Amino acid sequence: MRTETQLALIDRINAHRAAGRGTDTAPTSLRVPTAEYTDPARLERERHLTHTAPNLVGLSGLLPGPDTFATVDVGDRSVVLTRDRDGELHAMLNACSHRGAEVASGCGSSARLSCPYHGWTYHLDGSLAAQRRGEFFDDQTSPGLTRIPVTERDGMIWVTADAGATRSADTHPAGGAEDELGPLDLAGYRLFGSRNFDRNINWKLAVDTFMEAYHVAVLHTETIHPMFYSDFALFDSFGAHGRMVSTRRSIDELADVDRARWTLLPHATVLYYFQPNTVLIHQQDHVQIYRANPGPTPDACELFVSLYVPPDSERSERHWQRNLDLLVEVTDSEDFETCAGIQRGFASGAHDTIVFGRNEPALQHFHTSLDGLLSQSSS
Ligand code: FES
Ligand SMILES: [Fe+2]
Repeated sequence: MRTETQLALIDRINAHRAAGRGTDTAPTSLRVPTAEYTDPARLERERHLTHTAPNLVGLSGLLPGPDTFATVDVGDRSVVLTRDRDGELHAMLNACSHRGAEVASGCGSSARLSCPYHGWTYHLDGSLAAQRRGEFFDDQTSPGLTRIPVTERDGMIWVTADAGATRSADTHPAGGAEDELGPLDLAGYRLFGSRNFDRNINWKLAVDTFMEAYHVAVLHTETIHPMFYSDFALFDSFGAHGRMVSTRRSIDELADVDRARWTLLPHATVLYYFQPNTVLIHQQDHVQIYRANPGPTPDACELFVSLYVPPDSERSERHWQRNLDLLVEVTDSEDFETCAGIQRGFASGAHDTIVFGRNEPALQHFHTSLDGLLSQSSS
């Protein structure tokens, strides 16, 4: 993020504080039907959007060198990503052209992908390398893996998990947020670790919980609130995507610093959400990515969290491990646990609607832009 952007954001925070407000606001509060979290037909449309829109699945460090591969779930589709000998990235649906087995799992290094069922092998661009006992197959021109669009820009990897999808290489999927993320040199970040887990919540609840700082004082009294202000948050949109800045208490130190030397990043969490289902959190010296895939039913989702660290960091591996453990523990035991109760409440029919306050503009934008994308995607 450029210095002038950081200064402008700090000026906005100070203006809010001087006016006794603390946060950016939307013009009105917004009521949303609880059916958006429980309706199977809505879930189907969201799943379709997840498959057909570019998904931010990770940073370049997911495939850290030539001859590497990684598998990711996008919606309910398994995708295999590869980086070939020349460093070029490829993405394919993870289904063998013999009888459909998943040809890869996890991530690793290899110059070929080898199907674990009958041993057909593939080049890293997805083309078929060899059919084991090929003399028994009349068709020697079997197709390779099915390629899908993938873009790697500014250190971020975006995949569209649909065989029929085409996408213009001219449009940056970050929608303008790349101007801020580009200077972070994310391409050099290393994947420290990742976790996957399934939870009994609608996928949007997992995203919603990152979209406002209003709950920090109450839900995270002991864990986050000692370090963060609960009600200071700034919101800006990048098309359907958005950015929320929440402030650490250490921002008070800037009162004694000359404006020319102000920097926001040590005193803030800068959270970008990229439609439809990814949250990228720039946290002082590292990046966290949360992805929430729609599950098989409206009350289930699959969550992926990963932590990327800069190459020049002198922090120890233990430090990063603690960081990842803490991130998962707080979000899982406090946020997602609360979300599970919310989901049960939706199922009980207690309320037909819920409300997003004027002090939750990012949350409002996430939902209204998601609705817009859903109507475009189904029209
Ligand atoms: S399903 Fe892959 S080799 Fe048979
Ligand atoms: Fe939270």
